[in-house]
Amino acid sequence: MSSSVAGRALSPEVWEQLRARAASAMERAYAPYSNFRVGAALLAADGTVVEGCNVENAAFPAGSCAERVAVGAAVARGLREFVALAVVTESTEPTPPCGVCRQVLMEFAPDLPVLSATLSGAEARWSVSELLPHAFTPTSLGRR
Ligand code: THU
Repeated sequence: MSSSVAGRALSPEVWEQLRARAASAMERAYAPYSNFRVGAALLAADGTVVEGCNVENAAFPAGSCAERVAVGAAVARGLREFVALAVVTESTEPTPPCGVCRQVLMEFAPDLPVLSATLSGAEARWSVSELLPHAFTPTSLGRR
């Protein structure tokens, strides 16, 4: 993807690339317990796309959501500035990120635009701030 996308409005083509990356990440989901596969593609400010999928566990609470896997992988690569997130599931309706993922996304990117898509082409869009109003943030701790 382009070398830097920070501060620019994202084109429909970029959103489509992100959606496609999230769909391919979904194919690698490990979800034998819920059979609910989720893929995420997180676009960083330098143009890097980091993918995530849900990774479940026999000890159910040890499982991770696709969005948090993507954020963790990005941070581990030294990326902390994010400009867009696409999520794909096999649901019939676009599904929003869970509450824990909203909190994790809020830490790094309150204004992040989130696209949720189904395999049949239905879409919904929100910002992280819309999904998690009145959030507890680093500012709440007197940080940053
Ligand atoms: N899941 C995600 O990966 N992202 C979300 O935001 C919602 C839920 C996963 C967790 C679990 O593996 C499966 O979907 C069913 O909840």
